[in-house]
Amino acid sequence: MAETITIIDDRTGKKVTVPVTDGVFNSSALRELDPDLRMYDPAFLSTAACASSITYLDGDAGILRYRGYPIEQLAEKSTFLEVAYLLLNGDLPTSDELASWQFDVTHHTMVHENMRKRFVDGFHYDAHPMGMFISAIAALGTFYDDAKDIFDADHYDKQVMRLVAKVPTVAAMCHRFSQGLPFVYPSNSLGYAENFLNMMFRIADDYRVDPVLARAMEILFILHADHEQNCGTTAMRVVSSSHADPYTATAAAASALYGPLHGGANEAVVRMLTEIGDVANVPDFIKAVKAGEGRLMGFGHRVYKNFDPRATIIKKTAYDVFEVTGKNPLLDIALKLEEVALSDDYFASRKLYPNVDFYSGLIYQALGFPVDTFTVLFAIPRTVGWLAHMKELLADKDQKISRPRQWYTGSGERTYVDIAKR
Ligand code: ACO
Repeated sequence: MAETITIIDDRTGKKVTVPVTDGVFNSSALRELDPDLRMYDPAFLSTAACASSITYLDGDAGILRYRGYPIEQLAEKSTFLEVAYLLLNGDLPTSDELASWQFDVTHHTMVHENMRKRFVDGFHYDAHPMGMFISAIAALGTFYDDAKDIFDADHYDKQVMRLVAKVPTVAAMCHRFSQGLPFVYPSNSLGYAENFLNMMFRIADDYRVDPVLARAMEILFILHADHEQNCGTTAMRVVSSSHADPYTATAAAASALYGPLHGGANEAVVRMLTEIGDVANVPDFIKAVKAGEGRLMGFGHRVYKNFDPRATIIKKTAYDVFEVTGKNPLLDIALKLEEVALSDDYFASRKLYPNVDFYSGLIYQALGFPVDTFTVLFAIPRTVGWLAHMKELLADKDQKISRPRQWYTGSGERTYVDIAKR
């Protein structure tokens, strides 16, 4: 079979034949036919906006790999900082490289005191942690005068290291502010996830992070670190394409993540389960979803049409966490919902399966996180993926400032009517 595609413009009879590589053809073929021809592709369903070597995803087979490594192996064997190094640099680190990366990240976890005193303290007492997080990340960039030197590799890598190191501190700071609790400074003697849990929850001197819970947090961070061209990453790439600094671009990506159809779904799942309230109410809830009265949150995915491999790992992790914390009472409702939905033709025919957010919220809740911090927990590890994509984009000679075209459907020319005559 020829690995080409031929497009014929029936208006002119012109045709163009171009190669198809890995299922992709270059849209320059359309410009060759007619420079004014536009492809209408709302939500980019058929558009590959970039070439990327970071994350491989096969939605039909339920495969997810970072730089070629299966997510299952990374979740089982790796640490979050090792995975971060892999995503950012392309290869797993040697032990010296890992030690040096861990040291650098650990020794850059503090944030400027004015971030807390002048900035975070200015929020209203009930501000949503994600709103605080997004603005705090943008504000953080104003503390570094080299933030804008994005084409200086050393300066760019320094911002990456600062962001990876400081996002947990900023997240914990926002949480402590919401709770009216004193800020807990980062500790250089704790691992990445352990340090984060300590900054979030430490109250008494004898507080110790349970290693099972720290490992669960680490696994959740690994699973959320990247997911190719999703809504947040696309926002990161679009903003980065104008050569904005990494802090501003990360804040934009986090804003995209905030919505309930994206990273906000984990929060929406727990609110949905709480509203359902009892296993006995599950059939009526499913009936309402099928009647179009809302969605089954944590189900369905634009790309995964079989299963989300992250959901499988998370479900197992949930049981490890519940061994320590006791079972989340919402678990039974979630299990029943999953069982009923998976055996219902409405969900099967639309290929709707549990996604990463279906069980993650239950773990977060069992770990003690308030529901409105859940999306922040997603944003912390995803910062690594966003920064890996920004680095890739800046080095990609095919990329220019993102500037899609439109299909104009408004009025033709009209003559201005004076306000008194309208
Ligand atoms: N519950 C009920 N029906 C659903 C759901 C759902 N969760 N998701 C999709 N459908 C239905 C739609 O109503 C539509 O039905 P129709 O063909 O009869 O009109 C069909 O399935 C296809 O849905 P689309 O909205 O076209 O699918 P799309 O790929 O655009 O959406 C999305 C994917 C946004 C994830 C969607 O499945 C959804 O809203 N899920 C719930 C929110 C959620 O869990 N988001 C987290 C995604 S993972 C992540 O971002 C980290």
